[in-house]
Amino acid sequence: MSGETMIEAAPAKINLALHVTGQRADGYHLLDSIVAFAGHGDRLTFSAAERDSFNLGGRFGPLLSAEAEGKDGNLIVKARDLLRQALEAGGQAAGPVAITLEKNLPVASGIGGGSADAAATLRGLLRFWGGTLSSDTLSTTGLKLGADVPMCLESRPLRARGIGEQIDRLDTMPRFPLVLANPLKAVSTPDIFRRLTHKDHPPIGTLPRSAAPSEWLAFLSRLRNDLEPPARALLPEIAEISDQLRDVGARLVRMSGSGATCFGIFDDVEAASAAAGELARRRPDWYVQASETQGG
Ligand code: C5P
Repeated sequence: MSGETMIEAAPAKINLALHVTGQRADGYHLLDSIVAFAGHGDRLTFSAAERDSFNLGGRFGPLLSAEAEGKDGNLIVKARDLLRQALEAGGQAAGPVAITLEKNLPVASGIGGGSADAAATLRGLLRFWGGTLSSDTLSTTGLKLGADVPMCLESRPLRARGIGEQIDRLDTMPRFPLVLANPLKAVSTPDIFRRLTHKDHPPIGTLPRSAAPSEWLAFLSRLRNDLEPPARALLPEIAEISDQLRDVGARLVRMSGSGATCFGIFDDVEAASAAAGELARRRPDWYVQASETQGG
């Protein structure tokens, strides 16, 4: 594949619902989550090079430069190294590559971020190197990088159980126009999980049979994000963002992942776009993005 440049999208992951149903002996929590991916996200570029490199761009790129230069490196670099190892172990070539991350999503914000970038690295580099790896091996490699990486490899509507790695596709889920809003304050995922007082919530019940948006919206409205109470206790801005999203007309408002990004679901893309414009005008200090979840 030398001489070529390839682009891979890393869509924002949105937990439309997230129930914490238990905890494993190793401390990881058992989840039952309905997940969709936005049309908006980070973007990775892979180009043939004489030696490996990793470059950062985009609105939030500068926030990652210390991590990228630190001894632990960025998750993208770890994903590159793990994939190369897996391919070379099978006698497949995985030459030097220049990777550029256009970081459009806020960092540590509950919408994938690092996990989406790691997954896009695995997906994109496999294509770039022209390698062959079973989807099971790719998913196992992803899981070594983070519990959310296997679901981000899918980047389509799904239900995730286990610690996030047991995945069932939800092909009948409709697309949801939405607005993402974040106060631009990073949240530590382990910190939020540590603050959970109840770890044995009931799982998500029966899924809608049809693809009717109204049925899905009613179903989602009965669900929760169990990480929202501890995140709200830590960051009062989450309550304010939720109120604002409701005020600009969202039909359903909830936090994604461990926060602090909240989403509001709207009737159509025009309403979402108008609401995002109004919210950005009211709160220029927040990250506000209109988008639409991708179909199955
Ligand atoms: O797997 P990842 O590195 O993304 O997870 C970050 C942290 O979030 C874990 O170290 C753990 O503390 C917490 N976590 C959890 N249960 C999950 C996923 C993450 O407790 N299912």
